[in-house]
Amino acid sequence: MNERERRHTLRDLRAMKREGRPIVCLTAYDASFARILDVAGVDLVLVGDSLGMVVQGHDTTVPVRLEDMIYHTRCVARGVTRALLCADLPFATYGTPDQALESAARLMREGGAQMVKLEASLNQAEIVRHLSDQGVPVCAHLGLRPQSVHKLGGYRRQGSDEASAAQMIEDAGSLVRHGADLLLVECVPGRLAAEIRANVDVPVIGIGAGPDCDGQILVLYDVLGVSAGGLPPFARSFLPGTESIQEAVSAYVQAVRQGRFPPKD
Ligand code: KIV
Repeated sequence: MNERERRHTLRDLRAMKREGRPIVCLTAYDASFARILDVAGVDLVLVGDSLGMVVQGHDTTVPVRLEDMIYHTRCVARGVTRALLCADLPFATYGTPDQALESAARLMREGGAQMVKLEASLNQAEIVRHLSDQGVPVCAHLGLRPQSVHKLGGYRRQGSDEASAAQMIEDAGSLVRHGADLLLVECVPGRLAAEIRANVDVPVIGIGAGPDCDGQILVLYDVLGVSAGGLPPFARSFLPGTESIQEAVSAYVQAVRQGRFPPKD
């Protein structure tokens, strides 16, 4: 098997950060789309709990169950051979270190995930440490944390004032020191994402966080322009001007690799 065909590992993603090569990530929820992403050269496929909204039709990700995540992760796992496969721990399945480990183990054993993502602040640091100590690769999701939408009072940009930005920088550093292997920052000012990135030695993947991240992720349905309720302001459909879904996904991959998406302000 040559280098291009073998499975991506965390070491590869870290090397990409060091070498300044953008990491391309995208969500998937089934085997057919997962295969398209794999063929297009996506580095990390996330089975996001956004499936609660784009697949199940809920208003939020809160109703998504661990069983739903395991089912969709298993489907996606059958479609990817190259990309690193990450799956979300859904709402209220990682309240304690033991519960988090049990949920993560199910996503990995039954679903085939190689990494789990959880929405985190300083409060989840001990959970991250426990997972990491047990050999579970962890992606910590900071900034806008959709599972907390009812507490936040809506999907709002985070880290816009000085105090919350400083807190997020501290949270990010602490989560990495507790073992987070990857950070995902959602809906934060570009300069804050850039500062978080400069402060940690693990890759920082952005969504609505500007171009100065180590990689980018979008929800697949946004890339294909089929999201109910329209595109979030930071997203873009890559379908116009292409002749197939495969071409649209490849256009997204190339745009991120070449630093054309997201655009510099
Ligand atoms: O659930 C999801 O799709 C996410 C996004 C940030 C990509 O977490």
